[in-house]
Amino acid sequence: MSIEPHGGKLINRCVDGGTRDKLVSEAASLPRVDLDDRQVSDLDMIAVGAMSPLTGFMGEADYQSVVKDLRLADGTVWPFPMGLRVSKEIADQVGARAALFSPEGNLLAVMDVTEKYQGDKKAEARHVYGTDEQKHPGVAALYEQGEVNLAGDIHMLGRRGADFPQLHADPADLRARFDQLGWKTVVGFQTRNPIHRAHEYLLKCALEIVDGVLIHPLVGATKSDDIPADIRVRCYEALLAHYFPKDRAVLAAYPAAMRYAGPREAMFHALTRKNYGCTHFIVGRDHAGVGDYYGTYDSQKIFEQFTPAELGITLFNFEHAFWCKKSGGMATAKTSDSAMEDRFFLSGTKVRDMLKAGQDIPVEFTRPEVAKILMENARAEVSA
Ligand code: ADX
Repeated sequence: MSIEPHGGKLINRCVDGGTRDKLVSEAASLPRVDLDDRQVSDLDMIAVGAMSPLTGFMGEADYQSVVKDLRLADGTVWPFPMGLRVSKEIADQVGARAALFSPEGNLLAVMDVTEKYQGDKKAEARHVYGTDEQKHPGVAALYEQGEVNLAGDIHMLGRRGADFPQLHADPADLRARFDQLGWKTVVGFQTRNPIHRAHEYLLKCALEIVDGVLIHPLVGATKSDDIPADIRVRCYEALLAHYFPKDRAVLAAYPAAMRYAGPREAMFHALTRKNYGCTHFIVGRDHAGVGDYYGTYDSQKIFEQFTPAELGITLFNFEHAFWCKKSGGMATAKTSDSAMEDRFFLSGTKVRDMLKAGQDIPVEFTRPEVAKILMENARAEVSA
């Protein structure tokens, strides 16, 4: 029996057969809304239940409540406002239903439009991102979107092809896979960076306690200086092939876009992973952070205001992990009292800087098989 989805039921808004045929022909005469990459990713995650209990884009009561209180209007814990933002011109054309299209021009869904509302972007930014500065990448993405939120349930008619078909797995697929593997407890691991020793350390500490790990790298939109998902995927595959037991780790793509919202995004990452069937979730230092916007452990502290039952997923919080020269292995301040000069601190940002500078990545930072992929890619970029 897998873990209960958030809100109690795994949502499925995909339609097929005769219902689908009817909606496809109706869509031909409906006002058209062209989605961007981020909106396609939100739509798809709602459709397959990754955002359970959402059944569509959020109305104003939920929006206001989420922005201010981190809860849907019915009290369910939820971190991100999730209206479908469109321009005023498009909103004016839309009536009771709209047809949603991908950037490639393919019909994805029909939406029952039950509300149109503005929402205050600046207030939203301050609450959700802790800042209304344009230079925050999540805030910048919000400011680029339209002025009007459309709300209403969706009916998914067709999906965009997955970027990594071999790693594609919907919540129902992963739940079935974990059952098949006999895993009662599964820890979810979010990452948007090439996998390094601190990641591996967190994963292996967690694996000492639970039955299996879901390595669930984010493959949706990220900021332009993050390492591209295809390179990262090769790194995850190399690490798993060489350093993990075959039957204790599953690698699958997490289709969300990155918002860099720190604490709120940690909640989103945890609750959506619960929908994918995880019983536990790893939150380390500065989870989903960017620049200096959030404190090192803010993404852990935000969960303290909720009861375990409201969250329904257990957190594994980790302190800042480093390579300890004194003990010759990974450690945190909880397991080592080495002096600062004996600690080699690791981060995704640091590896990106070293790669840009053409430096070799040391084994204290990441395994040689992973370093090789990153350095080859960096060299290829320089000579391109
Ligand atoms: S994130 O934006 O997806 O959080 P990243 O891929 O770097 O970025 O981190 C993945 C997870 O590992 C997050 O939970 C993060 O907090 C954690 N993490 C990364 N580096 C360290 C470290 N050196 N010590 C502790 N936790 C870390």
